[in-house]
Amino acid sequence: MTVTYPRKFRDQFGAREILAIVVRDREIQNITLNRYRYSEQRACKDLTEVIERLDGQQRELIRDLSRHIHDEARHANWLTELLYDLGAELNVPPGLSYIDEFERLVHDTGGKPGKEIDLDFYLIESLAAINVTEKRGCLYFSAHIHALKNAPQTPENLQIRACIERILPEEAGHVRWGNRWLAQMARTSPQNAERVEAAKRRYTTIEQAAFETSMDITLGAELRRAQWLLEISETLPVWERPGYLMEHLPRILPETQMHRLSLVQIAFQRDPVQFMQQFLPAFLGLGRAAKADAPEAPESSYVRKTA
Ligand SMILES: [Fe+2]
Ligand SMILES: [Fe+2]
Repeated sequence: MTVTYPRKFRDQFGAREILAIVVRDREIQNITLNRYRYSEQRACKDLTEVIERLDGQQRELIRDLSRHIHDEARHANWLTELLYDLGAELNVPPGLSYIDEFERLVHDTGGKPGKEIDLDFYLIESLAAINVTEKRGCLYFSAHIHALKNAPQTPENLQIRACIERILPEEAGHVRWGNRWLAQMARTSPQNAERVEAAKRRYTTIEQAAFETSMDITLGAELRRAQWLLEISETLPVWERPGYLMEHLPRILPETQMHRLSLVQIAFQRDPVQFMQQFLPAFLGLGRAAKADAPEAPESSYVRKTA
């Protein structure tokens, strides 16, 4: 079976590079922790939907999913307590969120209530979708722990590290659980084996697109999002491709502009001087020209503002 892993941001920045920058800035680290909290909370809702859609079928899976919700709710709770103690925001994170974009990019898998359901197809699609986001979570949590080991050992950083270290082993368990279920589904028939491979390809592409979209506000982001849509559509049956593109293409331009505007405003309000010296050149794609003047790589400062 194919094994897929999340890729770096635009094949340049890995989780370790990004988190090393994040932990240097208390405000950005809090925003990042709040994004983890938001995703954990959302996972509870999404897993509940799968249980409701199963409607009593696949009892073992329902039991596993119920345990899974219990874990994710605990993670959301730990992160909420942590952010509360740190005096940080517990709001809906600003800008385009990774998990919202991921859900929007998922095509209709027949999971909507009131529709006839192909249970095997629906399960394979759902398990593959859950599995790729869990992998990204593991990658980020382990990179965050690594970065905190190398950061100043302040009481806050120690508290943050302890929290993430409690979550990570359970997330790794979720990835193994998803791999086991997908392998089990693949063994039930040759058709399901093909479906599992196709779903892994599709959701790996969708996940990478959602991840990059949530971080990318530089000029040309619209074009890159359109390219991602084309890539995702190529993982769908030929007859579904035009409808998928027509559904998603019109929202790219206004959404990217809003996302860009909100993050540019945050960066400017926070530090106007740094905004002009580092953020703006990176945003305009003048990174190479600005590199000689800036004490820090412009690509890094861009990631720092958007991570
Ligand atoms: Fe979790
Ligand atoms: Fe998880």
